[in-house]
Amino acid sequence: MKIFGICASPRNNTTEYVLKDALEKLEKNNFECEIFTCQAKDIKPCMHCDYCIENKECIIKDDMIEVYENLKSADGIIIATPVQSGGISSNLAAIMDRTRALEAIDYNLLRGKIGMSIAVGGDRTGGQDFAHLKIITYYMIHGIIPVSGGPFGSNLGASFWSNDSLEDIKADTYGMESLERTLNEFKNFLNKYI
Ligand SMILES: Cc1cc2nc3c(=O)[nH]c(=O)nc-3n(C[C@H](O)[C@H](O)[C@H](O)COP(=O)(O)O)c2cc1C
Repeated sequence: MKIFGICASPRNNTTEYVLKDALEKLEKNNFECEIFTCQAKDIKPCMHCDYCIENKECIIKDDMIEVYENLKSADGIIIATPVQSGGISSNLAAIMDRTRALEAIDYNLLRGKIGMSIAVGGDRTGGQDFAHLKIITYYMIHGIIPVSGGPFGSNLGASFWSNDSLEDIKADTYGMESLERTLNEFKNFLNKYI
């Protein structure tokens, strides 16, 4: 089964560290993993030109092409975002809006895939849950089945406190536990429903 991970940070640092850790663990369980990182990528915002509705493709030819291809072929999707302004990054907002073009091609393209969420905040309670809710809402809109890590600490997904430092995120054992629980449920859902 193929897993596609999106690192929605504009740089390669704490969010990428956590996502890579998650993908490495999945690879050890024989999942085929692909990562896309927004760092130095060109993903323009949706212009609402409706070209995709008419022509079944997005008019903007930028790095979103790589995201489209991977979203289409993935069985499972992991979106990892840094918490920005109490929610998701602007890079991720652009990716979410631009997914409209995939729906225009085929309404069922993403339906039935499994999705999980990772949120990395500089603060302990900086808006991780709002970021998760936005990602879960995106999954629901596109018919992707969102997983929770279950009650007791991973209710909406894996939540991290980075203190804006690679050293500190590596020491965030509570965050790592929330990742383990969410990954376990992600694997359970993939094995049950795909
Ligand atoms: C523009 C901007 C807004 C941010 N807003 C928040 C916020 O609202 N809450 C929070 O906990 N951290 C916030 N942060 C901190 C980042 O979430 C944190 O440093 C995170 O680890 C960055 O991920 P990265 O290392 O993968 O880039 C913000 C950072 C930036 C650059």
